[in-house]
Amino acid sequence: MSLSEMFTSLIFILCSVIAPLLTDEEALLPAPQNISILSTNMKHFLTWSPVTVPGETVRYSVEFQGEYERDYANEIWIPISECSLIIVTQCNVTDDISATVPYNLRVRANLGSRGSKWSTLKVLFNRITTFLTPPVMEVSADGYHLLVKLENLGPAFQFHIFYWRKGQESWVHKKTVKEISSVVHLDTMEAGAEYCVKAQTYVEAINRSSNFSQTHCVRGPDGGRSIWMMTVMVSFVGFVVGVLALPFLAWKMSQIFQYSCCPVVVLPDTLVISLSSLLFLGCCIFRGRKRLSE
Ligand SMILES: *[C@@H]1O[C@H](CO)[C@@H](O)[C@H](O)[C@H]1NC(C)=O
Ligand SMILES: *[C@@H]1O[C@H](CO)[C@@H](O)[C@H](O)[C@H]1NC(C)=O
Ligand SMILES: *[C@@H]1O[C@H](CO)[C@@H](O)[C@H](O)[C@H]1NC(C)=O
Ligand SMILES: *[C@@H]1O[C@H](CO)[C@@H](O)[C@H](O)[C@H]1NC(C)=O
Repeated sequence: MSLSEMFTSLIFILCSVIAPLLTDEEALLPAPQNISILSTNMKHFLTWSPVTVPGETVRYSVEFQGEYERDYANEIWIPISECSLIIVTQCNVTDDISATVPYNLRVRANLGSRGSKWSTLKVLFNRITTFLTPPVMEVSADGYHLLVKLENLGPAFQFHIFYWRKGQESWVHKKTVKEISSVVHLDTMEAGAEYCVKAQTYVEAINRSSNFSQTHCVRGPDGGRSIWMMTVMVSFVGFVVGVLALPFLAWKMSQIFQYSCCPVVVLPDTLVISLSSLLFLGCCIFRGRKRLSE
């Protein structure tokens, strides 16, 4: 073996020892684990377990691939700019999942010039699987108006509102609300009746509904109007009876006092002047005059 051959071998051995060390150095960063999608109410987040390197800040970058990229664009991946070299282990991918088709997502860790391999979702994500929560709502009565307030979940959401008069469950009304401005007026209530409301969200883009919210019931004003009406009616009847009865009473009294008065001419000071005493006085004067003229 010549010197040059020995030298070449030495370099070869050195290279074969050092090269793997170098590539090991490059591959030192492990790929993020436990990559998954959390999707609730059409808001989608990619999450993963952190890659920890003591004393260092690991960064992450996320890319996605829709059906189009996968099938018609050479399987290219599109970087998500909001999730490029981020330090948190979550990426909001809501705006990137824009169609109801299967999406693939991947993430890798970076530390300086070192990067990890990509970690890819095990199962493609379709937003049709989003978890729809029952709507948060407030039911109230404003006078005779049955009102409901729903949380605003954005333009993709509609609400199916069902309401009925308690005890008349077979007669359920349905109202669909597309845009929640503030408070929705459902109906005018009958006095003293109790009304119940439940609702579910509906997302047209995926043709799916949430479960129903809990049922909330409210009672209309407690017959306030009918009591007022009754009071008015009773007062009116009383007034009519009074008006009709008064002349009769006056006539009857004059009949009674016609024969029982006259000895008393001067009334005691303590006597309260009432209608009857006035009538009494009137009839006495009348009788007195009558007697005088006889
Ligand atoms: C992945 O999740 C499992 C269970 O939640 C946990 O035990 C494991 O430590 C996680 N892996 C990493 C790399 O954090
Ligand atoms: C995620 O992105 C969507 C769409 O841009 C936005 O409406 C939502 O508020 C974001 N959520 C969070 C927690 O940042
Ligand atoms: C939505 O789903 C229902 C069944 O849950 C189905 O009857 C209806 O045809 C679907 N509508 C559309 C537009 O796909
Ligand atoms: C809807 O309700 C059913 C039965 O109560 C339950 O099993 C299911 O998990 C609920 N679905 C959602 C999306 O909350």
